[in-house]
Amino acid sequence: MRPLIFELLLLSSLVELALGSSQTPFKSPLGEQEYWKPTHPIRSVAIIGAGPAGLQAAAAFAEEAPDIAVRLFDRAPVPGGNWFYSEQLPVRETYPSSQSKPVELPSSLPTTYFHHEGEAGVSLDERWREHWAPRPVWHGMKINSAMPSTTLPGVGYPPGTPWQASVHAVQRHVRAYASLHALNVLDSPNVTSYATRVDALEKRGDSWVLSLRRMQPFSGTEDRLRVDVWEESFEAVVLAMGVDGNAYIPDIPGINAWSRVRREDGHWPLHHSQSFRHVNDYVNKTVLIVGASVSATGIARELGPHVKRLLLSSLPNPIRDAYGLDILFGVPSNAERFGEIIEFKPLLTNLSDIRQGKIHVRLFENTTATTTLEGIDEIILATGYRLDSFVTDLLHPQEMSNLHWTGHYLHDPTLAYVHSRPWTHGRYQCTSIARVWRDPPTARLPSQAEMWADYREGKWNFGMPLDVLPQEALIRMYVAWLNSEALELGGRMIAPIPLEDREINTYFTSLHWRKDWFEHEKFERFDKLPSSEWPEPGPF
Ligand SMILES: Cc1cc2nc3c(=O)[nH]c(=O)nc-3n(C[C@H](O)[C@H](O)[C@H](O)COP(=O)(O)OP(=O)(O)OC[C@H]3O[C@@H](n4cnc5c(N)ncnc54)[C@H](O)[C@@H]3O)c2cc1C
Ligand SMILES: NC(=O)c1ccc[n+]([C@@H]2O[C@H](COP(=O)([O-])OP(=O)(O)OC[C@H]3O[C@@H](n4cnc5c(N)ncnc54)[C@H](OP(=O)(O)O)[C@@H]3O)[C@@H](O)[C@H]2O)c1
Ligand SMILES: *[C@@H]1O[C@H](CO)[C@@H](O)[C@H](O)[C@H]1NC(C)=O
Ligand SMILES: *[C@@H]1O[C@H](CO)[C@@H](O)[C@H](O)[C@H]1NC(C)=O
Ligand SMILES: *[C@@H]1O[C@H](CO)[C@@H](O)[C@H](O)[C@H]1NC(C)=O
Ligand SMILES: *[C@@H]1O[C@H](CO)[C@@H](O)[C@H](O)[C@H]1NC(C)=O
Repeated sequence: MRPLIFELLLLSSLVELALGSSQTPFKSPLGEQEYWKPTHPIRSVAIIGAGPAGLQAAAAFAEEAPDIAVRLFDRAPVPGGNWFYSEQLPVRETYPSSQSKPVELPSSLPTTYFHHEGEAGVSLDERWREHWAPRPVWHGMKINSAMPSTTLPGVGYPPGTPWQASVHAVQRHVRAYASLHALNVLDSPNVTSYATRVDALEKRGDSWVLSLRRMQPFSGTEDRLRVDVWEESFEAVVLAMGVDGNAYIPDIPGINAWSRVRREDGHWPLHHSQSFRHVNDYVNKTVLIVGASVSATGIARELGPHVKRLLLSSLPNPIRDAYGLDILFGVPSNAERFGEIIEFKPLLTNLSDIRQGKIHVRLFENTTATTTLEGIDEIILATGYRLDSFVTDLLHPQEMSNLHWTGHYLHDPTLAYVHSRPWTHGRYQCTSIARVWRDPPTARLPSQAEMWADYREGKWNFGMPLDVLPQEALIRMYVAWLNSEALELGGRMIAPIPLEDREINTYFTSLHWRKDWFEHEKFERFDKLPSSEWPEPGPF
């Protein structure tokens, strides 16, 4: 193993190389008419989502485009996005997943109505949880990203915060950022609207119309809940709704019957990982975890030392299995691994637990052979999430479908998607959106025709936007573009990610995710090669 100092020296030379190229200003090749312009000046912007991305977007508008009136909506009662840890659990999933029903909008707006306890068989508590959607983070969860890329500008983490901060530390950090920018609950009632779900988004004439539904937060004592439904119109919209979406439940034979088993205390022994909260609930039990990605292996590592037996069922995935990297995909030594579940065998009686039930699975090492599992107390389906909302009718943020590399919607760049993993990318993205929509702009997009042409060619297709190398390339693009625009149009110059942050990010990634991924040669090649020739993900 090479000594650390060698790694750091190597990295700093890489970083200098990267910086050199990021500072070459673009000479704008376009005539005035060849830039995209909104049909009329943008005076009002809605931001949907108050996680790290939406909060950074609101802060960017305040800083870069103070004349634009911003409204920030989130279905949750507080800012924080994915990082708002709660003991409340999401409402019970559908087994298997099905397409969610379109939201019913009242025929005349605005309107106010009340829900009462037990109305249509649904409790107020359940209505409230359905409205705000408690987050899929658990009590012992830690970040799997490096600190510098999980930090919002201008707020710190307390001294001594570990290398892998807890979900609670991150929550406080994001809420501190919201407070710093007067975006916390009640800080700026004209700007923020929490507990407000956006049900639909529609372009009418020159305006984007949002259908909004605010529910009075339920504290456990109310005997009715007030709901306000109304519309608001904006000239532009930032979608900052995250990328994870709804819990996904695979259609495995027999899963529905098993999903109906419920213990007397109300607990469902078969549940999705979004409802996993405390290790204590699983001590000395036999637990089956389904899946092999970050949630499955993270929960497995936490449960490993405390459970009677730990069974893992996963689909074969040669690329992932080849990583063998501890932070992302490592499993504890007592895990017994199995392949895919073929069937949840019919339950013979109406049971209050699933211990008598049998599950037919493939073996892990030889998937042509099968076996039967039984005596299981808890099954955690760590089978991931699927985006399913009005947004997916327009674009897909993870695949960057219908999006310019800046996140602007190609059919109508008065709509933009921001995502923030890593959060540092979100900062550049939000700055650029505010600069483009500002009047006059301090950054310009090429014409729509040109953006479409680039998109079709895959010119700025950086692959998975969440990946490490594409991130590097994207941030270099932002720095070069925004600064050359600032030179022509005025405005602050923006800095690349500080050297030491990049070194820590790179070191963390190299240590925990992808060994030897950051090599000099790959950095250089990445800039010069067409995307079709970029390295495949995976160990080399
Ligand atoms: C279990 C889990 C662990 C993770 N761990 C890490 C990690 O360790 N490191 C890391 O960098 N990333 C991690 N992530 C990724 C995470 O998505 C990002 O860290 C970050 O939270 C993304 O920020 P965001 O603002 O884009 O989205 P989010 O934080 O998801 O915020 C989106 C917000 O939009 C709101 N919203 C959505 N739909 C609507 C609607 N229709 N109306 C109103 N509001 C709406 C939501 O309520 C939410 O508050 C993790 C994700 C999950 C699911
Ligand atoms: N900070 C943290 O510690 C932390 C913790 C949890 C999650 N996260 C983040 O949260 C996001 C979601 O992660 P996730 O692990 O919940 O979801 P995910 O990455 O989408 O993984 C879903 C898993 O379910 C498996 N799966 C899907 N359908 C299946 C089926 N029919 N049968 C068996 N298995 C099936 C997948 O198999 P394949 O592998 O074959 O596709 C995959 O292993 C990621 O961004 C992750 O980084 C972070
Ligand atoms: C908020 O909006 C109300 C109603 O439009 C207005 O009277 C008030 O002055 C606004 N407050 C601030 C701080 O802008
Ligand atoms: C779990 O089992 C161990 C060993 O049998 C026992 O000492 C411990 O008290 C049990 N814990 C719980 C919470 O039941
Ligand atoms: C379980 O009970 C429900 C309701 O009483 C009934 O509809 C169902 O058929 C029963 N299932 C079995 C397997 O006995
Ligand atoms: C896999 O299992 C099948 C069925 O039990 C068996 O015939 C075959 O020999 C096994 N293959 C290996 C490589 O062990």
